[in-house]
Amino acid sequence: MAWQDDAARILLANDRDGHTVPTDGLYPFQWSWDSAITALGWLTFDEARAWREGAVMFDGQWENGMLPHILFHGDSSTYFPGPDVWGGGHRIPSSAISQPPVWATTIRKMYEAAKDRSLAEASVRTLLPMLVDYHDWWYRERDPEETGLVRSFHPWESGMDNSPAWDEPLARVPPVEWEYQRRDLGHVDSSERPHKPEYDRFLYLVDFYKKNDFDPERIYKDCPYRVIDVGIVSILHRASQDLLALCGELGGGLDVAGIEAGLEGTAEAIHSLWSESDSCFLNYDDIADEPLKVRTTATILPLFGGLATAEQANRMAETIDEWLRASAFGVASTHPAEASYEPQRYWRGPVWPHINWMISLGLEKYGFDELAEDVRIATKKCIDKTGFWEYYDADSGKGCGGDEFSWPAAVALHWLDDESASCAS
Ligand code: DGY
Repeated sequence: MAWQDDAARILLANDRDGHTVPTDGLYPFQWSWDSAITALGWLTFDEARAWREGAVMFDGQWENGMLPHILFHGDSSTYFPGPDVWGGGHRIPSSAISQPPVWATTIRKMYEAAKDRSLAEASVRTLLPMLVDYHDWWYRERDPEETGLVRSFHPWESGMDNSPAWDEPLARVPPVEWEYQRRDLGHVDSSERPHKPEYDRFLYLVDFYKKNDFDPERIYKDCPYRVIDVGIVSILHRASQDLLALCGELGGGLDVAGIEAGLEGTAEAIHSLWSESDSCFLNYDDIADEPLKVRTTATILPLFGGLATAEQANRMAETIDEWLRASAFGVASTHPAEASYEPQRYWRGPVWPHINWMISLGLEKYGFDELAEDVRIATKKCIDKTGFWEYYDADSGKGCGGDEFSWPAAVALHWLDDESASCAS
């Protein structure tokens, strides 16, 4: 039980009175998708605390339904850019973009696994209207032309910040003109973090939202960065199905027509992103109007979303099999054969346990159970080798980024523990 105890110890150490920071220092606030995944870990040993994680996050939901990617619950000098730079928030200061909407999926898993049924039911009933507002926001404001594919306005929104998929669209964004001091490099070696030209553009976009008063119409029309992120599209699609299932059981009276229409639109539109030569779906630059031809783990998440046809799923399983075997420690975030692959640098190659969990669930969904188990075993090797790190060098398994990190601890408790694995899907 040693590592299970260690994983629980990390969540307890990163607990800040109801929300969990990803890790001390490097990320001292509440990040949306970290928090959703982390709640799964809490559920394995403290159900009340797991439900609280969601309640605190949704306290920061904007009036228009948007769930920010960061909630700034207090001050901190160890992170940049903070609340003063973002200038957004409703009830709680926050960023002005969202993050992959995995909440409804994790909430459904928690609801199904919880032992305290009355607490689970009451918690889900409280969260459901907010989740519906959040999903409506994605379909309404990020796909105003009803194409079936939501748009993303910032690489940080993908959660895969400096993925090589975003290199070209990000290069067209002007650099910010003011001086700033990065804090991440005080915590992590620069070889494992994004480069300065990327930060210059990340910050330009942050300024852009503020200058446009966070007005969705102006941003949709004029933002110099606008992409279709297959990762977000797939995660939203699965989460919307999970949300409808929960609403069917507990959400009588909630209007889910927008979500049903969104699901229908995406199921049809996704096929325009299929690449016959790559055997996966490609991200799309919505401004240059062309596919982004880099194989990153976002491109195989349509299995997780249940968006692939049986034939596409067969082809993707072959792709994943080959991709998995190209590195020793799980599916690398960028395919190792890509010129942009860097095994240790943030989203340009390392293995991320929560993404491998999604890939594995996607494979199981289409009946590739053995390959799904191979992904789980390879991911577990990272943690067995170096402990609970933000991400892992895909070639050596070395822990990279922040140490004592919440989501690998939560993923390990929920999925990698051999005893819980059989009930995690
Ligand atoms: C960071 O600061 O690196 C975060 O990923 C932004 O969300």
